[in-house]
Amino acid sequence: MTLRTVPDVTFKTRVRDETIEGPNPFRWEDKTTADFFGGKRVILFSLPGAFTPTCSTYQLPDFEKLYDEFRAEGIDEIYCISVNDAFVMNAWGKSQGLVNVKLIPDGSGEFTRKVGMLVAKDNLGFGMRSWRYAAIVNDGTFEKLFVEEGFSDNCETDPYGASSPQNILESLKAEKIAAE
Ligand code: BEZ
Repeated sequence: MTLRTVPDVTFKTRVRDETIEGPNPFRWEDKTTADFFGGKRVILFSLPGAFTPTCSTYQLPDFEKLYDEFRAEGIDEIYCISVNDAFVMNAWGKSQGLVNVKLIPDGSGEFTRKVGMLVAKDNLGFGMRSWRYAAIVNDGTFEKLFVEEGFSDNCETDPYGASSPQNILESLKAEKIAAE
């Protein structure tokens, strides 16, 4: 990833709207990268798919649990992005009981492609998905990247370590100590 700033992308989200009657009170709402990243220092982490085992058992729940620690290190928001549509991402968030981490549906993969992280996962029948990575993004500018090793199409393994919340927290804390 060589980009300095997040690309301009419009995300198609589904939001609850109590004025809509019936069993599915949701409507489309466009959200832009400016809405998500403008004027904030955030963690963005990206993974191969909603509901997949490592993402659902470790990465997403651990970011959720460690949210207050990230806040204490000067992080305003934690975003999880995946090449999945808004219906899937909302269902995943609900199943995880998320309160802190916000999900970004990159259904068409436009953001992931523009940051150079789109990979084929046809070996798993997934099509094009995101390589696993995370970043500290400050007011839309990439401050630090945490990219898992072995970036490749149809990778037979799923490296997970660099983009873990524990690793990123350690990095934030070390940076603070170095600045003191
Ligand atoms: C996992 O999170 O465990 C996973 C991710 C992508 C494909 C298969 C499994």
